[in-house]
Order: sequence, then structure tokens, then C-alpha cells
Amino acid sequence: MIKFSKMKNKNPFIIAEMSGNHNHSFDRAFAIKNVYITQPILPAYKDFCLQIKQIYKSGQLTNSGQKHNEFEEKLKKVLAVNNVSLFNNGTIALLTAIKALDLPINSEVITTPWTFAATPHCIAWNGLKPVFCDIEPDTMCINPDKIEKLITKNTSAILGVHVYGFPCDVKKIGSIAKKYNLKVIYDAAHAFSTEIKEGGGGIGNFGDITMFSFHATKLFHTLEGGCLTYNDKNLIKKVHDLRNFGICNEDRVEDIGINGKMNEIQAAMGLLNLKIFEKEKNARKKLKEFYDSSLSSIKGIRLPAIPKNISTSYQYYPIILENIYPITRNNLYEKLKQNGIYARKYFYPSCNDYECYKDLPSSRAENLPVVNDIKEKVLCLPFYGALKKEIAKKIVKIIIEAGKQKSKGA
Ligand SMILES: Cc1ncc(COP(=O)(O)O)c(C=O)c1O
Repeated sequence: MIKFSKMKNKNPFIIAEMSGNHNHSFDRAFAIKNVYITQPILPAYKDFCLQIKQIYKSGQLTNSGQKHNEFEEKLKKVLAVNNVSLFNNGTIALLTAIKALDLPINSEVITTPWTFAATPHCIAWNGLKPVFCDIEPDTMCINPDKIEKLITKNTSAILGVHVYGFPCDVKKIGSIAKKYNLKVIYDAAHAFSTEIKEGGGGIGNFGDITMFSFHATKLFHTLEGGCLTYNDKNLIKKVHDLRNFGICNEDRVEDIGINGKMNEIQAAMGLLNLKIFEKEKNARKKLKEFYDSSLSSIKGIRLPAIPKNISTSYQYYPIILENIYPITRNNLYEKLKQNGIYARKYFYPSCNDYECYKDLPSSRAENLPVVNDIKEKVLCLPFYGALKKEIAKKIVKIIIEAGKQKSKGA
């Protein structure tokens, strides 16, 4: 039997608790009445049990076990990259990525405020200064045309985020970095399997180093987890030592490392989810087509314009409520919530409004016109393969009905 404890807790990712004998062909929907932004994929329970049995038998639970190594090899192929280093979560992976590049202490890293807290926090935790750059209105990724004017003699790197799974303009960012001799880091937490079709390949091939998150909210997950991808072979040892407290061998500790190791249970979940994530992606593609065709003609609703030569990860489905839409984003959010539908205001507040960053010169309103406009207008709709058609239709109906209202604030 599945017991869902703490049902008052709105986060479905932490409420599943199993007990007793179970035959797991269960329907998770029976216990989760409300509709959330996402629902994690899960492999067949018996397959996971088999993996756990193997882990028990091997006796190795962590520290580059058999499953860890097998998963790492398989990921190289799936992500079409040369080097993969697994981590226990995306945040520790990003912290390590920045550390591995040896950027001068107190130097400036140009990044986007349109991201999750982890991105600027990883810069600041490394003793570096985040400098916020405005975003493109279409993809909502960092705007490369606004990067150059932020470069100073203290700039050491650019950190772009492939937000919602839409890729940054990696070509333009690459040439700016080359011109000014800057490092490039990408946060691809949302972008598992995003591809740039012409002359690009896997999104993890750009810049000096890229981080993917495998958190349960992601298209592909290992419960918690993440990885780094990079092409420079010299980074392999550096990243691996940093991931393991800076320990090089039994006799030597070189660097100030951290514990970033992925354990065998995470790797087992990853191995199984590699077999099913494409199915989930296809289901999301169909849901996107449904949302697109139902919402694109509504006055005041704008959908992101994604470049043609890419395939996205289908991580999130953001809509932008322009001023001519009769009610505000917050009012639409409330309307959906009254119907048990929990959309998300990703990203509200934007990072430039956080207490810890609001006083940075780059956070001033005049520097971030697009971010400051869009932060009041974006809503990410529930978006996952198991979302029932009738629920998707209900969401669309609420948005259409709200669009017929007469004035703001109704
Ligand atoms: C853009 C972005 N960067 C970084 C992270 C952090 O990843 P993790 O949750 O795996 O630590 C997240 C959240 O999951 C994210 O959305």
C-alpha cells in the first residue's frame, strides 16, 4: 500500500511513503488530487527493486560504484558529449564547475537573473561577484547583445542558463568570450537532451563546462542528482578530485574540495530512467502541441519563440500574459489555484530582487527592463506526460474564459 503522509504538504515529491507488501501497478493520481507543475517519471517498481537487490549484493553503496560507472558511460552517449562527471545534485555540480575553472577571487561573472536561486548563489559561494545581464524577450535566456557593455577588467566568465530548456545563443556568447578571453559556464539544469541541430549536437558541448540537474522536477532525474560535461581532458582529474574533498590519492589532498559524489541508488534510478525519458518527452511534445494550438490565438497571451534549429527538453511550458490580456498573471494564477491547479511563477521573484542581490549595481531597474517586465507576466502551466487530457482542457478553458473578462484585476 502507498501511504501519502503529510498530505497538507503541497510538494508531491516529498510525500510518497511506501509501506507493507505492494503490487505496484498503482495510479499515483489517486492520491494526488491537486495538479502541480510537474510529476516525476518513475520506472516500474519491480525493475527498481531488482536494482536495489543488486546493490545489496554488491555491498558498494557509493564512491564510484558499478552502477555509477555504467550510468556515466551511458550518459555520454545520450548527451552526445566527451566527458561526464556525476554529482549528488546540480547545485554542488555547479559550485564545483566554477571552482574547477580557477577564476580569480572577487572577479565578476556575467549571468542572468532569470533563473533559479542556485545559479547566482554558486557564483557568490565561490567568492565571485554575479553581474546580472538582461534577457531576450523570446527565449528568456541571457541577451548576448547586452553582455559586452557589462565587461570590465575584472570580468572572468559568463554563466548562461538554458532556461526552460531553450538554449542560449551559444554562438554569440562563444565569440564574445573568445574576444575578451573569458570562461563560459552553462547551467543546463532544465536542458537535458536539448540539442542544437546544425553543427552543434548535445547542449553539453558548449562553453568550458556545463551543469545538468537530475532533480525529481526535471524531465530526466535520479531523485536528486546532476552532472558536469566538458571537452577539456585536463578538467577530468580536477573535477573528480574536487568532487571527492580534493583528495588525489591516499597520501595527498591538493584542493579545497567538497562531497559531490552520486550514490548507487541515484545511479540505479538514472539507469532505469534513461530507458523511459524519451517516452515522457514525446508525451510532453504532444501536450505542447495541444497547449500551443489552444492558446496561441488568445489575445494577450504570448508564447516563447524558440529558434527553429533546436530541439528542446520540454522542461517547462511558460506563457506570457501581455498587458492587453484582461487579468493579471497573479489573478490568473489564483483562478487556476481555486480549481486545484498549481501553476508556477517561474521566476518570481527574479534573482535581482533577492535581498542578497538587490543592491548590486547590475540589479538596478534601468539595467534589466525585460526581466522587470516579464517577471510580472510569466506563468508556467502544468506540463508532464501523465497530465490527463481533460485537465489540460480545463486549464485552457480557464485561460480562455479569463481572457474574455472586461478589465484588469477582475
Ligand atoms: C536553473 C537551475 N539551476 C540550478 C538548479 C539546481 O539544481 P539541483 O536542484 O539539482 O541542485 C535548478 C533547480 O533544480 C535550476 O532550476
